[in-house]
Amino acid sequence: MSAKWTPEGWRGKPISQVPEYPDAAKLAAVEERLRRLPPLVFAGEARHLKELLGDVAAGRAFLLQGGDCAESFAEFRADTIRDTFRVLLQMAVVLTFGAACPVVKVGRMAGQFAKPRSAPTEVQNGVELPSYRGDNVNGIEFTPEARTPDPERLVQAYNQSAATLNLLRAFAQGGFADLHKVHRWNLDFVADSPQGERYEELSNRLSEALAFMEACGLTAEAVPQIRETDFFTSHEALLLQYEQALTRVDSLTGEWYDCSAHMLWIGDRTRQPDGAHVEFLRGVKNPIGLKCGPSLEPDALLRLIDILNPANEPGRLTLIARMGAEKVESRLPVLIRAVQREGRAVVWSCDPMHGNTVKSSSGYKTRPFDRILSEVKSFFAVHRAEGTHAGGVHFEMTGQDVTECIGGAQAITDERLADRYHTHCDPRLNASQALELAFLIAEALKAERAAQARQLKAAS
Ligand code: PEP
Ligand code: CO
Repeated sequence: MSAKWTPEGWRGKPISQVPEYPDAAKLAAVEERLRRLPPLVFAGEARHLKELLGDVAAGRAFLLQGGDCAESFAEFRADTIRDTFRVLLQMAVVLTFGAACPVVKVGRMAGQFAKPRSAPTEVQNGVELPSYRGDNVNGIEFTPEARTPDPERLVQAYNQSAATLNLLRAFAQGGFADLHKVHRWNLDFVADSPQGERYEELSNRLSEALAFMEACGLTAEAVPQIRETDFFTSHEALLLQYEQALTRVDSLTGEWYDCSAHMLWIGDRTRQPDGAHVEFLRGVKNPIGLKCGPSLEPDALLRLIDILNPANEPGRLTLIARMGAEKVESRLPVLIRAVQREGRAVVWSCDPMHGNTVKSSSGYKTRPFDRILSEVKSFFAVHRAEGTHAGGVHFEMTGQDVTECIGGAQAITDERLADRYHTHCDPRLNASQALELAFLIAEALKAERAAQARQLKAAS
């Protein structure tokens, strides 16, 4: 049915969102260098993630995916990596313990640099320059030098991703993620907030449960999940030259894996069924994501599912709905019904960030916390009504105490956005806002599981 796949096959397809590199020979030389560098992840790890996502597709687990909108060279520090990881751990514990549901943790980290843009150029004071496309393409400063795409940045992004991943592996396996340390994951600036206190309470209960388990002989030696965790990486597969260079044949299975991250996704702007991005990702065996915006029609979605997951393998495909708070109730049910009707196994995840971006009156790009919350709530309500599993969430967030999204328990106002607005692209939830959402989602998940249990009981 479909044509034979090769890692460079995308080059013959229409492509959008590509930077214009002035020096093609330099770009080719960088690609050649990248091809010789070691893979960042192993195929077996990507397969393991696919299995875990298979559990999510079957309704037995929940996907938590989050991190920066765009990682940057300037904010590359151990503490920013640690703090984002720490908030993800906190959120996961709230979900696992609060809703008794296993959580699959995936960072938008260690490779999330490239950004699709709404326009190829930007005009400031009558001067027109190429748009900023992420630190692995060009610089954010508004000068001709910075904005000219430089292939050398791909190598710097690779090196930063390698170092980030190295630290994440150490945090996940080296003791930081030990459940006995659950109290220490609370960040100073969150600790005194209502979420911080609620988290403290939950940690106390968790510590009691651990002590009880230990008394029963279920120690960290016997149950390694107590002292370490699985943590995976993901990013948007936008710069296909880079993705192709890191795509390798797995020696165990002979299949192609994109070894730049465990999971890759296709953005809402690059999901054309005949386009280069879909062509590239259909051939790698990693678990993949597909952003589903409000313009996606059910037939187009089914066509994309046919291309991206022809074998209907559970865990292969995560549909990340990003409809916007106002549209989710009208746009999501038709997609879910089409998928159900055709018997397709997918993970449904909710990105409540990208459909809820607005310009504040002070001129900042922001996202009202209420709208983010409202989209998540509607996502759960729609799945409850359709009898399907609300499988996960996808957040832009950071462990830093930034002021980028307005609202939340800290009641960040428009005037305060300027205080600590550090993002290189879209506004992120700060640690306090992220934790607040985790508690809300835990409630919704708990309700979903209780409803399932009632149905099972009624049926038996
Ligand atoms: C993103 O996730 O950063 C992004 C650009 O999302 P989308 O493709 O959904 O707009
Ligand atoms: Co974004």
